Parts: sequence; C-alpha cells; structure tokens
Amino acid sequence: MKVLVTGGGGYIGSLLCASLVEKGYDVVCFDRFFFGKDKIKDIEDRVTIVKDDVRFFDPKILDGVDAVFDLAALSNDVSGELDANKTLEINYKGRVRVATLAKAHGVKKYVLASSCSVYGFQDGLVDEKSKTNPLTTYAKANLLAEKETLELSSKDFSVTALRQATVYGYSPRMRFDLAINVMALSLFRDGKIMVTGKGEQWRPFVHVKDTGNAFIKVIEADQELVNGEVFNVGSNNQNYNIFDLAKLVCEANGKEFSYESFGDPDFRSYKAKFDKISNVIGYKTSKTPRDGAQEVYNALKENILDPKDPKTVTVNWYKRLIEMQNNLREVELNGVLL
Ligand SMILES: NC(=O)c1ccc[n+]([C@@H]2O[C@H](COP(=O)([O-])OP(=O)(O)OC[C@H]3O[C@@H](n4cnc5c(N)ncnc54)[C@H](O)[C@@H]3O)[C@@H](O)[C@H]2O)c1
Repeated sequence: MKVLVTGGGGYIGSLLCASLVEKGYDVVCFDRFFFGKDKIKDIEDRVTIVKDDVRFFDPKILDGVDAVFDLAALSNDVSGELDANKTLEINYKGRVRVATLAKAHGVKKYVLASSCSVYGFQDGLVDEKSKTNPLTTYAKANLLAEKETLELSSKDFSVTALRQATVYGYSPRMRFDLAINVMALSLFRDGKIMVTGKGEQWRPFVHVKDTGNAFIKVIEADQELVNGEVFNVGSNNQNYNIFDLAKLVCEANGKEFSYESFGDPDFRSYKAKFDKISNVIGYKTSKTPRDGAQEVYNALKENILDPKDPKTVTVNWYKRLIEMQNNLREVELNGVLL
C-alpha cells in the first residue's frame, strides 16, 4: 500500500514516515523541507522524496497512491499570524487542494492533520460534539479545512480528520515551541522551568509517535467506521495543568522542582476527551509526558539535540525565511554594490 505524507519532513511527519517504512508501507515523503532534508536522513533511501508545495504540485505524483496523510502546514498559532493570507492558502486551501486532487486521482483514503486548537479555550471537557471556538488564523484554517475535506467523503473516498492534542517528545525535526519540550529544554539549560502566570491552564497532550500511530490506525481500520468522522487524538489521562506538568518534567529527570513565573496569568484553559477514537477503532497511546520529558532531556544531554538550533522554534525560523526571501528580492531589485 502506497502512502503519501505531506509535511513528511516535519516534527510529526518525519517519525510517521519512519513508522510507515517499518510497517512495510511504500512511502512518499512530500514536503517543502523548510526545516531541511536532513530530518529524514535515516530513511531517505527507503522512501520516495518529493520536494514540492501543496499549493502548486503536479497532481501526477498522486498516481498509484492509496492513502494521503495531510500534515503540511504552518504549524502553530503564532506562525499562522505571521501572514494570515499565506496561512489560509497553505493550511486551508492547500489541504482542500490535496484532498480534491487525491479524490480525482483515485486515492482511497485521506487523513487530515487537524488540531484540538479548534476548540479554542472553554470551560470543562470538550469532545468531538462540543462547539468549536477557533481563536486564531491557524485554528480557523484547521476548521475550514476539516469542513471542506470532510464534504469530499464518499463511498470510494474515505476522509477522516484527526484533532491532535499538543504533541511532545523527541523527533529529528525538533520543536522547542511545544510545552513539554520547551520545559525539558529550560530545565536542561537553566536548571528551572518558566511557567506562564500561575500555570493554572489545562491542556491535553500526546506523544509524537502516538499521534503518528493514530494516522496509521485510521487507514488500517474498517473504513466504514472512520469515513466522514472527526476524532480527537490523545488520551483522557493526559490532560495536565501547566504547573503540574512543570513539576513532572523536573521529577522525571530527577531534579528538584524549580520554576519562575512570567507574563500575565493565563486563565484560558481546556481539557479534552478521547473516548471516541478509543471506542471506535481501539486506539491507545503508549507513552506519557514523563517519557517525553526524559527523552528530550536525554537527547539534549547526549548532544543529539542542539539547544541553540534556530530551526527548533518554528515561528522564529519562518521569520528568518521571510527575511531571507525579502533580502533576495531586494538584491534582485537593486543589485549588489560590489
Ligand atoms: N505538533 C503539534 O503539537 C500539533 C498539534 C496539533 C496539530 N498539529 C498539526 O500536525 C501537522 C504537523 O505538525 P508538525 O508539528 O509536524 O509541524 P512541522 O512544522 O514540523 O511540520 C510541517 C511540515 O510542513 C511543511 N510545509 C509547510 N508548508 C508547506 C507547503 N506549502 N507545502 C509543502 N510542505 C509544507 C514544512 O516544511 C514542515 O516540514 C500540522 O498540520 C500541524 O498543524 C501539530
């Protein structure tokens, strides 16, 4: 079975491509590789690599593909605000384009990488039936993409949207802009953890390998169970408030709890329920925030991760790419004075 993964060079995508290869799938890793192709060096001779853009690619690459995992995106709220139009072009229109072309090219299954951010912040426990409350361009683009890709669902084209919790854990394309990962980094670098306000806000979490496994579980399931459906991806026992999480990151690494509070208290908070994915397709997570905190801390200790790698904070890297692009334009327009 041939699976094309857009965003296959990303934080989740690079590990997901590796899991697919391990399971014997024929894998096409499709990405602009904004964070570099080295992220997939361990599997590069076992996957087909396509460096292209979801907005412009030649649909011929979809010939013979059985399933698409659509992960390409500007991948968080702050990056999504750098240029709201580009975010909508990529995260909304780009994904609808991928799904529409996939259907036209006889692909049978399409899985969208959405996010629990579509719930915004609300009191209590949210599940797939809860009202959504997208507060950022990133969250709005996810919801629009869900709606229009799910509308393409038919007997021959199975569409599923996965609303992933906040992800944690080690990946070759590391992200230090995700709560547990940045806590492990600040514990390693500064010996303490920075906590916003009083850290009272709740969030759901999921390990990076576990969230990838949800995509695989979906295409391996009876399609009647998943076609046209939205699932939260995570587990009921991985809703944490930020203060407790900071304690856990210290404990997990055998360090005394030390924190510093910064910024205004953030009272916006939500917890999510993950019963549907477990009841409908038997999905279970295998890793915990404790595992993730240790994994990231150890990767830093063993120099596998560079704490100063500028690509690990997504918004900063995209800002830098925009600057480089603007400088090139300036050079094109004005030439250089030699
Ligand atoms: N990491 C999380 O906590 C989390 C949580 C919920 C949802 N998600 C979603 O999961 C998906 C993957 O997230 P991630 O954490 O791996 O992010 P990531 O930024 O590491 O990966 C996204 C990949 O998409 C690529 N990309 C961006 N624009 C592209 C374009 N126009 N054409 C082709 N490729 C393009 C980038 O080069 C990058 O490799 C995203 O859709 C993200 O919104 C992530």
